[in-house]
Formats: sequence, structure tokens, C-alpha cells
Amino acid sequence: MSSNNVSDITRFVAPHLAKATYKGVETVEAIAKEVGLPVEKLVKLNANENVYGAPQQVLDAITKVQHHVYPDPSQVKLRKAVAGLMGVTPENVCCGAGSDDLLDIIIRMVNPKAIVTSTPTFGMYSFLGSVANVDVINVPRNDDFTVDVDAVRQAIRDNGAKIAFLASPNNPTGTLLPNADVETLAQEDCLIIVDEAYADFCDETAMSLFGKHDNLIICRTMSKWAGLAGLRLGFAVAHKDLVSVMMAIKQPYNVNTAAEAAGLAAIEHREAIMVTVRAMRQERDRLFNELKQFSWLRPIPSSANFTLIEVTGDRSAHDVYMALRKRGIIIRFFGSQGGNLNNFIRISAGKPEHTDAVLAALKAIEQDA
Ligand SMILES: Cc1ncc(COP(=O)(O)O)c(C=O)c1O
Repeated sequence: MSSNNVSDITRFVAPHLAKATYKGVETVEAIAKEVGLPVEKLVKLNANENVYGAPQQVLDAITKVQHHVYPDPSQVKLRKAVAGLMGVTPENVCCGAGSDDLLDIIIRMVNPKAIVTSTPTFGMYSFLGSVANVDVINVPRNDDFTVDVDAVRQAIRDNGAKIAFLASPNNPTGTLLPNADVETLAQEDCLIIVDEAYADFCDETAMSLFGKHDNLIICRTMSKWAGLAGLRLGFAVAHKDLVSVMMAIKQPYNVNTAAEAAGLAAIEHREAIMVTVRAMRQERDRLFNELKQFSWLRPIPSSANFTLIEVTGDRSAHDVYMALRKRGIIIRFFGSQGGNLNNFIRISAGKPEHTDAVLAALKAIEQDA
């Protein structure tokens, strides 16, 4: 047995991983305990989930799963169904344990020196990049949160980046990346990953460009529109030669049988689910309009199922976040994670009663001051 003491054991950890961490959402149980409310009383608007959950047909499909049998590593049924949904062939589709898994697979496939992101944006890109010991080049967005396309192109060239991660709509700003910009970026010798996790909440997609640019990869998830965040299912649509590598290097059983069954059922019953998506879009728009009555809040127009809101004047965004939290309304405050968002909060779209609760709480906070 080694005589090394316990503290020495970290010498085995790769230096670039010593501080690796991703701050994900807290459990509802932990929040409920902290704020002293039962879980059922919480209004959870912090993770852009589908607040309606998955429909009964999807839940039924999960119960029929043969959970003692390994899932299909080739994802034959799922890739066929996704291909049908996206209008491509199964050879263009690779599925993963959430789209996070696909982002990781793409980084491992390319093993790049550098990746480029456009901040503020989804923190997973820089987290996965730093875990892979890759230089993460964060290019600030324009003041209106659109992508600074010229600066991204320059950053790709200056750093020899082989992957650019661009979410459209972007999280947390809700901003779209117009297809004209995707086309411009696709001129670079770099994979352009258009992360369309929230595309189902708007009418825009880069899919019409697919096939036109071999270096374009589109990622989607079942976490948001389909209400399957907890089951972890996402997919990438890419050139078939890239997909064959992604399929070869992914964890063989990355999509579990419950996620597979739920994904197939969600695609089959997409129309029923889209009713809930439309309801959430409506609430997003209602919240946006209602927020205008608060002179100290500046909502940013969003194409996703959440709204980023600047807190102006004397109040701090963190105080507003905490004041809502005390009232059981759980939203997101990022601080400096993913870009400078110290003056912002993000509220996911919910059911009408959730919007009502948010507005009532904000009025109470306004009066408290
Ligand atoms: C832009 C974006 N991409 C990807 C994801 C991850 O989705 P998944 O749950 O499929 O891993 C999220 C989740 O918040 C997101 O905001």
C-alpha cells in the first residue's frame, strides 16, 4: 500500500481539470428546504423546461421499456424517426444523452486547439472545452446580443479554431442567429455548430442550409419542447461522414432505453406536444409585454421559452432574484457565468398561473422598496 497521504492523491488529476466545474440547476428539494416551502408550492422557472411535462402517450411508452436489456448502440429506430422529423437521412443523425452529449462528442471528434463561442451564451460550451483542455475563445456579442459575425470569423482565424458553438435562439439572451450569418460563418474552415435547443419555440432554423455547407452541424434536444430533460435525449444533424465518426466514438449505450422509447413516442405525438409549446410561447410574450409596466426592468425580446431581463436603477439583479426566490419563484441569475450578466435575470416561460405569480411577486417587490 502506498504511503502517500490523502492530499497527495490529487497529483493524479490532470492540471487543466483541477478547477473544472459546471454550476447546474439545484434540485427542487434543496430549494424548497432553503426557502421553507413545500416542493409543490415552488414556481420553477429556472431551467427552460416544458412545464406541461410529456403527454400520457410518452409516459406510457416509457413503462413498456425492457429496462434489463441494453439499448441499441446503433440507434436504428431513433435515428430513423429523427431523420423523418428533420427531413434528412438516418446517416445524417447521431443521438446522445441530451445535446450536451453531442457537444462533447463533437469536441472529442475534432480534438481542436481552440473553440469559439459568442458570449453571453450557454456555459456548457466553455465547460466542455476546458475539460477537453482546449482554448475557449469567447467573442462578446453586440450590444443587442446579436452575434458579432466579423469578430467571430476573426477569432476563428486568429486562433485556428475548428469549432464555433452558436446557439440560435441563444441561451440566455433568446437572440436568433440569422441564416445569412450562418452562411457567412460557414465560409470559414471550421465546424459551425448551430445549437437549436430552442428552435421549436420560434419559426426559424438553419436546417434549410443543411447539405449546402458540409461544415454545418445542427444540434437539437428533446429536453425543451418535448419535456424530456430528465431522460436526457438530444441529437445532431451532420454530414454523414462526420456522423459515422460520431457514432463510432460516442459511448456505445449513450441513449438509454427509456429515453429512446420516450423520444420515439414524442416524435410520434409531436403535434400534441406542440400545443404546449405554443402555450408557452404565448406566456413568454405575455410576460414580455407585462414586464414593460416595471420601469426598472428591461426585457430582451426572445425567440425561446425564456426571457432575459435587465434590472436597472437602484435594484440589483441578484436582490430581485433572491426576493423572488424567497417567495418560491425560482428563476436564474448567472452573475459572470457565461459572460457578464450581473445586471440580468432569466425567467423561463411557464403556465399562465406561473406568469401571474411572477407578476404579482414583482409588484410586491416594487412596493417593498
Ligand atoms: C443552448 C442550449 N443547448 C443545449 C442545452 C442542453 O440540452 P440537453 O438537455 O439536451 O443537454 C441547453 C440546456 O439548457 C441549452 O440552453
